[in-house]
Amino acid sequence: MSNSQVKIVEVGPRDGLQNEQSVPLKAKVQLVNALAAAGVTYIETGSFVSPKWVPQMADSAEVFAAIERNAGVTYAALTPNLKGFEAAMAATADEVAIFGSASEGFSQKNINCSIAESLARFEPVIEAARKANIKVRGYVSCVLGCPYDGEIAPEQVAWVAEKLYTMGCYEISLGDTIGVGTPLKAQQMLAAVAEKVPMEQLALHFHNTYGQALANIASCLPLGVRTIDTAVAGLGGCPYAKGASGNIATEDVVYMLHGMGYDTGIDLTRLISAGQTICQDLGQQPRSNVAQAEIAK
Ligand code: HMG
Ligand code: MG
Repeated sequence: MSNSQVKIVEVGPRDGLQNEQSVPLKAKVQLVNALAAAGVTYIETGSFVSPKWVPQMADSAEVFAAIERNAGVTYAALTPNLKGFEAAMAATADEVAIFGSASEGFSQKNINCSIAESLARFEPVIEAARKANIKVRGYVSCVLGCPYDGEIAPEQVAWVAEKLYTMGCYEISLGDTIGVGTPLKAQQMLAAVAEKVPMEQLALHFHNTYGQALANIASCLPLGVRTIDTAVAGLGGCPYAKGASGNIATEDVVYMLHGMGYDTGIDLTRLISAGQTICQDLGQQPRSNVAQAEIAK
């Protein structure tokens, strides 16, 4: 990947739709296909978690079965444990992601165990993935603040990120789950993690609750990070982080990156159209300034 290329990891179908009630299967499938058609090459398509915890994702196997598979696209799934991993393999997910937290409070609320217990639970998932030749991505949540524990030290984020990396995750995605970060803090956190995990193996996953995500991403690009998680139309939030809004909108990040001379391989017009369709299905307006401006033209 050249220095001017940025990889967009589209998490809308998972992080976005996990927060929306009763989205029809057809709308989920149409969204994934439309994103691939827009040139998105990595799509987090669903999650294999307990349906009692997140019923919105209970039909992920059906989504995987119904989407058109584009050879250039990675269709990934979130898997908290071996049961989830096995379900993801049965659904022929290309990659899986495990998800830990930099804060104890969020770890308990989100996956019902401590950070140490979560790392122990991820071991067999990573081992099974290694045997199946499946790549594992690792999330660290609450990297810039926790709804339960408050401020999180950059060193704590770096500690968890390093653990996941040395356990075998090829990429660590740093989640500002409740979107409270600001540019300088985002830079300091990223710099602290990059002392433990190579920058090329890091991704930013910023929610936009306080409207800071685009500024935070722009401030981190000069440090060398080139993988950004986004959700089309700014969909979503997190069921275990009250008040958290969606990820920064893919349209806004792509527009900014193209304006700065970065290449994403994504067709902005088709991306906006994908966001518009899912928002019509949900009865919402896209939470993307770029989409709103372009639609209003
Ligand atoms: P638990 O209750 O401690 O686990 O939940 P358990 O092993 O005792 O299982 C309880 C029940 O769930 C059992 O069923 C299991 O079979 C079932 P029962 O016997 O009661 O009928 N179960 C499952 N079913 C389907 N698939 C599975 C699975 N595992 C257990 N994989 C557990 C622990 C981790 C399962 C639960 O807490 C859970 O599913 N949590 C998921 C929470 C979640 O999905 N949160 C949102 C995603 S994370 C996020 O959004 C943040 C991120 O975007 C980054 C950021 O923004 O920071 C990634
Ligand atoms: Mg998230």
